[in-house]
Amino acid sequence: QAASSLQEMFEPSSSSVYEENADINWDELGFSLRPTDYMYTMKCSKDENFSQGELNRYGNIELSPSSGVLNYGQGLFEGLKAYRRVDGSILLFRPEENAQRMKMGAERMCMPSPSINQFVNAVKETVLANKRWVPPPGKGSLYLRPLLIGTGPVLGLAPSPDYTFLIYASPVANYFKEGFAPLSLLIDNEFHRSTPGGTGHVKTISNYAPVLKPQSQAKNRGFSDVLYLDSVQKKYLEEVSSCNIFLVKQGNTILSPATQGTILAGITRKSIIDLARDIGYQVEERQIPVEELIDADEVFCTGTAVVVAPVGSVEYQGKRFEYNTGAGTVSQKLYSTLTGIQTGLLEDKMGWTVEI
Ligand code: COI
Repeated sequence: QAASSLQEMFEPSSSSVYEENADINWDELGFSLRPTDYMYTMKCSKDENFSQGELNRYGNIELSPSSGVLNYGQGLFEGLKAYRRVDGSILLFRPEENAQRMKMGAERMCMPSPSINQFVNAVKETVLANKRWVPPPGKGSLYLRPLLIGTGPVLGLAPSPDYTFLIYASPVANYFKEGFAPLSLLIDNEFHRSTPGGTGHVKTISNYAPVLKPQSQAKNRGFSDVLYLDSVQKKYLEEVSSCNIFLVKQGNTILSPATQGTILAGITRKSIIDLARDIGYQVEERQIPVEELIDADEVFCTGTAVVVAPVGSVEYQGKRFEYNTGAGTVSQKLYSTLTGIQTGLLEDKMGWTVEI
């Protein structure tokens, strides 16, 4: 019998072993900011490389009112997690993937980027400096938020002359208030998340504010979030505001929209695809017309913050497609396998985790 949540995979008493932990109620974590002790900062100018970074106490930063990030949205962010193992050690999950994605995004946004090593080392330093905030096993994870932003002044539209790479951290647990209970999604064809030739595939900060309005409208109507369709034919599934989407069909086939420029290539998405293939599912990455929701056995979302979240229903043009009232067998299995690897409970045959 698979555990239905991360918490159930651990002994209830395991939290008492870590005396060094911050004195907070670890059972109350959700996905809101809980400031930790230190943040990491590294700066550079245009046409230079990032060199020496430093850890400072977490706090506000000073920014020119005419900085590139404030005026023209020249910025990227990343998200990754550190997990506490039962023996007290700490694991990162695929940090080089985040480093590579930031590098690719920086190229699109005309920004210099830290090297893969600089990124990964900065993440490790940030975690170690905030070690007491890594939740006990089964209670969540330490979410790391790397930012790359244009901090130098600009007035005319141009790349910023100076850049800051910054990482802050916050302990987190479930992203959605539903926890592991199934989400209800709304397909709202008035709004679209991205467009061909745009930046939908890049983790730029400017992809996220535009989804706030459709998201809050959906929430006001009782939905968990919005599932977007493509902006050209308005018929193919793309992604949810903060995560990728998967469908399970005929018991053994798993579908996810192909990432062809308008969809974020999630690291959890990629990991779930590899794990599913390894387990024996057939995985197809392709265009998925909205009608395919009709005969899906299961629908689920994936993301770093979201992990694997089952979808219970999707509403489209007034019709509601219903799925499991709990987590489906496939999403449950993939969730348990992924989180088992991330937390060191299962053997990491893929070589994805990095101990620090
Ligand atoms: C993540 O999953 O880490 C993200 O960056 C999504 C964010 C909107 C919370």
